[in-house]
Amino acid sequence: MKKVKIKSPGTVANLVCGFDILGLALNEPSDIMELSLLDEPKVIIHNRDNYNLPTEAEKNVAGVVLLSVMEKAGKHIGFEITIEKHIKPGSGIGSSAASAAGAAVAANHLLGNIFSIDEVVQFAMNGEKLASGVKHADNIAPCILGGVSLIRAIHPLDIISIPSPDLFVTVIHPQIEVRTSDARQILKQQVLLKDAIRQWGNIAGLVTGFMKNDFDLIGRSLEDVIIEPVRSILIPGFDEVKRKCKEAGALGGGISGSGPSVFMLSKDESTAKGVELVMKDVYNRIGIEYNTYVTTINKKGVEIL
Ligand code: HSE
Repeated sequence: MKKVKIKSPGTVANLVCGFDILGLALNEPSDIMELSLLDEPKVIIHNRDNYNLPTEAEKNVAGVVLLSVMEKAGKHIGFEITIEKHIKPGSGIGSSAASAAGAAVAANHLLGNIFSIDEVVQFAMNGEKLASGVKHADNIAPCILGGVSLIRAIHPLDIISIPSPDLFVTVIHPQIEVRTSDARQILKQQVLLKDAIRQWGNIAGLVTGFMKNDFDLIGRSLEDVIIEPVRSILIPGFDEVKRKCKEAGALGGGISGSGPSVFMLSKDESTAKGVELVMKDVYNRIGIEYNTYVTTINKKGVEIL
């Protein structure tokens, strides 16, 4: 087996209250990649999209992941990868994670799955480090595993898959640029104890809500008193979108990852589609272009096609 084709899903990180520790995978959008094994130690990258991402391995998210796999495998191997991105870089729906996780899973597949899931996550986190300056697994873990993931710790890695109801996810990606590195830099380095207590309550409530299919608890827990008040100023219309989506029946939602995408969870498809109309209406009035998705939670993660 020398060649593999995979589909790597978009993801929503943080899930509002769980900064860097919670995320879920989406059925739409996803990237497609083809990876072949070479018998020379080099990485060749082809982009089959219009995003003009770098093709030097050291500067490409998938490239650095493949280099780290080669180093650990310790064999005389290389890779040739063709990347067809449908998840726009800088969208906040896990574009870099899809490249990183997809490359790591595909490489492991070609090598006969010699690495454990934790090792594959570690490889993929090298891509996140290149993209955002920091290793975090709240996009990577759900991208690889599917469903909802809790990353209890990354040193050492401790990832827990959380069962969840079949929720609908509405995402709007306003076409403005928010770089993850910038959106991390503006965060305060200290939090008040009273805010931390409220946030702990919300994280525990959200995880319990997912596990017990308790929609009201999920809705109540989708609250962020630490990150959102700072980051939401980067997203025009954020407060209005959030308020109107909840009035339209969404359980709740907020900034997807570091933004600028905003996501909302709903119990059923008709509510999720109504929420999409509300989102579009706000951005039509503000005059910002957008993409929207009405999708569901992806339970499979990266798929070998
Ligand atoms: N947890 C990360 C953040 C996700 O919010 O910065 C973005 O990649």
